[in-house]
This record gives sequence, C-alpha cells and structure tokens, in this order.
Amino acid sequence: MTLPRAAAIHVIAPEKSIKPAGIAHGDAATIAEISAGLLAPQASTSPKYFYDSLGSHLFEAICELPEYYPTRTEAAIFAGHGAGMAELIGPDMTLIDLGAGNCAKAASLFPLLQPREYVPVDISGEFLHQSAAQLRQRFPDVAINPLVMDLSQPLALPPSVPVARRQFFYPGSSIGNFTPHDAVAFLRQVRENVGGDGGLLIGVDLVKDPSVLDAAYDDAIGVTAAFNLNLLRHLNHLAGADFDPQQWRHVAFFNDAESRIEMHLEARVALAVRWRGGERSFAQGERIHTENSYKYTVPGFRDLLSEAGFRVDGIWTDDAHWFAVMHAAAAYA
Ligand code: AVJ
Repeated sequence: MTLPRAAAIHVIAPEKSIKPAGIAHGDAATIAEISAGLLAPQASTSPKYFYDSLGSHLFEAICELPEYYPTRTEAAIFAGHGAGMAELIGPDMTLIDLGAGNCAKAASLFPLLQPREYVPVDISGEFLHQSAAQLRQRFPDVAINPLVMDLSQPLALPPSVPVARRQFFYPGSSIGNFTPHDAVAFLRQVRENVGGDGGLLIGVDLVKDPSVLDAAYDDAIGVTAAFNLNLLRHLNHLAGADFDPQQWRHVAFFNDAESRIEMHLEARVALAVRWRGGERSFAQGERIHTENSYKYTVPGFRDLLSEAGFRVDGIWTDDAHWFAVMHAAAAYA
C-alpha cells in the first residue's frame, strides 16, 4: 500500500524533531558554559566560540573587507609610528601576543621591535600552530613558542615564559569583547604578569559615526554574517547541538547607550534546538547575543589603563581618530 503524499510528510516531520543531540566534542566544562548561556532568559554565547579553524579564517577574511576599517587603520598607525613605538619599548624583549591569530600583525613589527622571543597566545590551537610554523621559516633568529590558552580564563603564563622584559601585545581592539568592568579586571591581570620592566602595546577602536560602525559589522557580501553563523556549526560540534544555520539571521548594530556594537543571531522561524544535556525553543525573532565590541574615547581608555595599574606613555592615532594604539608601562615598579 502506498501512503498518500500528505501522510508521508507527516511521518517525516516528527521524526526530525525528536532527533537526539549529536556527538559532543567539547569537554564537560565547555558544554556546561554553552548550556548556561543558551538557557539564560536572554540567550548568549561567548565570542571565543567564533574561533574554530573556519571561524579564524573567516575573521581573516573580515579583516580584508573594505567596510572593516579597524585592521587597516591600525596597520597604518603601526606603519607610520612603529619606529617610535620600538624606540619607547627597546629591543630584545619577550613579545607576548594575546589572541595572536595568524600572527601577522606582530610579525610585521618584528623588524622594528626586534624581539628575542615571541609567544603567540590563542584559543584556536591548530590555526595557531600552523601560523607559528610559517613564522619560524621567516624569522629563524626569533624563538617562537606558541601557547594555546583561553583568555576568558585567569591569565596564568607557564614558567617557560621569561619574566624579564615582558612586552604584551594586544592589538585589533580585542579588548572590546570585554565589558569595561571586565576589561579592567583583564588588564589588571596583564599588569600583574608584566613585572617592573615590561609593558603593554594595545590597540583600541574608537567611537565614531554609527553608520561606519554598523557597516563594519554588517558588510555587503555577508562575510561577517557567515562568521556569526559559523558559531552555530561550532556549537553543534562542541555541544552536540542540532542548530540549523539556515534558520538563523545575522543581526549587528551600534548600541549608543552602551557604546558597543552588538551582534546577535535571530531565529527566522519558531524553532527548537537540542544539545548534550539541554534543549530550548526560540520564538520567531528571538535572538542569541553572540558578541559585544565596545568602542572607547582616547581619554576613556586611558582612564581604564590607569585603573588597571598602568601608566600610559604613548598614544598614536590615525588622522580621522578612528583607532588608537597605546603603550602602557607599570605605574610603579
Ligand atoms: C576580534 C573582537 C576585535 O570586535 O571587531 C569582527 C571581532 N566581530 N567582526 C571586533 C569581530 C565581527 C573583532 N575583534
């Protein structure tokens, strides 16, 4: 007997909806963290989950977009003022690159900074080790010792990292992912790891016309949308979730009151998601908050660094004042 067409569809649909959560490749703590975020009244996820290998590559692509001004603006500041920065810092330091990614920014400064040792730190392990291997070919005289670390956890450098002349490098306005309160806590930890004779070279994105900000996080060809949606594939992998990226839409906008870009994923339809140890339904239009990217003023960020125990001794910006690079030393030895 052949079933009528409508009945056959009826059989398939419920089967799909009771599909169990898939295999989880994340550890228990990771799954618990993801689960807690997804179950909160306002669902959220940490931006660190953007960066599986594909996510790191998509972020590299974002940096090439005409709309995404931070990377090229910061690069222009380094190109124009790198020599002055190097003079302030002095050679033969251990350069510790927080969130190094492809290590390209630090590498472009090697000829000026002349580090003795380079310690790129990143959560995206495979991507980091590949980048480090390429760098060793280009700079055989620099000791290159990558560290796979989650920067949302307490900053504990292993004893293998020399204590003298630690120069931290935190470019790209990655600090913007923290709330200002958490940024101070993070910078205070960096301060504790700097010692008396080290410093911090940090890039920070500045407040500007919201239309420029909005375009930078919602580009015309959808690379940032792909970067945001790729998070769902990564959650499927880590937590054994069954997100269907096609059911979600990229949303990004500048929140003026909070001085931050917000990125969200918005459900296109009413849907349900299951993962290892949890499930949730989302109404059409309901969102998962996936990222904050705070924008500062120069005085505002200088205050933040002082609050964390640093003394700012160098500030460089572009002509339009879209981005700033600051150097900070220990406020006391
Ligand atoms: C890596 C945190 C600096 O906030 O601009 C880019 C991440 N997200 N486009 C930023 C990001 C969407 C980026 N940071």
